[in-house]
Amino acid sequence: MTTTTDLMDKLVSLCKRRGYVFQSSEIYGGTGSVWDYGPLGVELKNNIKARWWRSMVHERDDIEGLDAAILMNPQVWVASGHVEGFTDPLVECRNCHRRFRADVPEIQTGRCPVCGSSEGFTEPRNFNLMFKTFMGPVEEEAAVVYLRPETAQGIYVNFQNVVTTSRQRIPFGIAQIGKAFRNEITPGNFIFRTREFEQMEMQFFVEPGTDEEWLEYWREERMAWVKSLGIKSSSLRFHEHGPDELAHYARKAFDIEYELPFGWQEFEGIHNRTDFDLRRHQEHSGKRLEYIDPADRDKRFVPYIIETSAGADRTALIVLADAYREEEVEGEQRVVLGLHPRLAPIKAAIFPLVKKDGLPEIAERIHTEFRAAAIHSFYDDSGSIGKRYRRQDEAGTPFGITVDGQTGEDGTVTVRDRDTLQQERVAADRVVTYVADRVR
Ligand code: GAP
Repeated sequence: MTTTTDLMDKLVSLCKRRGYVFQSSEIYGGTGSVWDYGPLGVELKNNIKARWWRSMVHERDDIEGLDAAILMNPQVWVASGHVEGFTDPLVECRNCHRRFRADVPEIQTGRCPVCGSSEGFTEPRNFNLMFKTFMGPVEEEAAVVYLRPETAQGIYVNFQNVVTTSRQRIPFGIAQIGKAFRNEITPGNFIFRTREFEQMEMQFFVEPGTDEEWLEYWREERMAWVKSLGIKSSSLRFHEHGPDELAHYARKAFDIEYELPFGWQEFEGIHNRTDFDLRRHQEHSGKRLEYIDPADRDKRFVPYIIETSAGADRTALIVLADAYREEEVEGEQRVVLGLHPRLAPIKAAIFPLVKKDGLPEIAERIHTEFRAAAIHSFYDDSGSIGKRYRRQDEAGTPFGITVDGQTGEDGTVTVRDRDTLQQERVAADRVVTYVADRVR
């Protein structure tokens, strides 16, 4: 049985072993809290992002997509409040000089969590979490730009562009997936809190006064989407922000939390941001960011915004943690990633039982048919069939297709279900459709 304390270690090790996640710049000793997605990890994250995009943009008429740049005019971050307020209180241990966030419980005990000293900490000072860089060849203050700490602002500054070109009417939304960067003081827990990460954010523009009901609507929609990824309902809950937790822009906010081995943790937020953002950009840019109702041109207002903000990396971590299990099968231990077939990086693995009697040729042909159907499959003819199954169980592949002696006789192959371990004989020329139906 997996205990919660070692689940993270096991997950990190499986991710490395199977090519899900590697430490960034590993051959140089790594770089602080930055991770690379390997061949299977990139497929998993792409599948999560594609499902999000599909549900937000393609399956609805009232949300448009956007891909705004990471580098923005620095005034954006003055207007948004990030230059002034996107800070964490930082303290330094008087003994070992390590730095910590002042607001974490261990620090409040007065004892350093690294060296154990009780000499205490320096007074907290505010540390801005935005990464700075320079635009142009001269490293002077005038050319300072920031790596965006959230994708949302790219949506706000394009609000009028999207209204004009898409001819959407309020209520409507703008969705975006992209990288964000935060110079976190205490990152950690694998891909949970990193310095470079991806967000999937949607900003829904509504008429003031309808914001409460839209917040409720999006709260339910987002939880339903998360459950559609196959995540166990018993490990999910909402957490409503109390007055001390609300961000400077939010009137009301809910987190969707998952119970990870290190406690209940937020991986998505649904926020009522009121008209804070558009008003601030209106003031700072001098451009009107009002919405004019085309049916009644006297009706104009600065829209309220309901935001849904999810981390692609945190969602991937939760999907992986939720899917990980160890069990005994026929007296042997196996590790399984029980990923939902929609999210699994490889949908089917194809195994010729032996490397002779024409079995590899049939297996190759099936593999080619999967490729033609754009279903990611994997061909493996090395090692015992048991070992090949185990490798794919760890990789999270839902179906194993074995071409054996009977295939030559009656044209059928064995399809093994990763979770139930049941084996079914399916006509070789129908096996792609069989898997496609189940993946859908
Ligand atoms: N635009 C609102 C916003 O950015 P947030 O709660 O700061 O709100 C939203 O971030 C989501 O982005 C989080 O729920 C989390 O999934 C992800 N996220 C934030 N900081 C992160 C970090 N350092 N590492 C990984 N994911 C992070």
